[in-house]
Amino acid sequence: MRKILLPIIVLVNIVWSQSPTKNSLYKPCAACHGSGGNVKAFQKSEIIAGQPFGVLTQKLKDYRAGKRDVTGMGAVMKTSTANLTDEQIVSLSVYISQMKK
Ligand code: HEC
Repeated sequence: MRKILLPIIVLVNIVWSQSPTKNSLYKPCAACHGSGGNVKAFQKSEIIAGQPFGVLTQKLKDYRAGKRDVTGMGAVMKTSTANLTDEQIVSLSVYISQMKK
């Protein structure tokens, strides 16, 4: 069983690591939230990995609109989301919601 499983896991990892979302859109976010979304940005933000898709799109749109500020650092997220289109927010939210908590 192991002999079959290992190549499958390797293959899935290769496909996953080449996902365009991971390589382009999430790259700047990883500096603060970690590549797996498991880091509290500035030790303040919530862990974003595995949050529900709809919650993430709403939070990101609110940051982009300058309407969300939980820890007093909403301005940081406003800058990070300012140039994102709705489509890119959807794409990022799918990606982050699939990260392991
Ligand atoms: C310079 C550091 C930094 C970068 C880069 C950054 N963030 Fe953040 N993020 C933060 C901070 C700080 C907060 C908490 C803001 C607040 O006070 O509301 C936060 C909050 C969030 C939250 C809400 C967490 C919650 O549940 O309250 C989400 C979702 C998020 N960021 C996603 C992203 C995404 C997606 C990107 C990339 C497009 C990104 N962040 C880039 C620092 C950063």
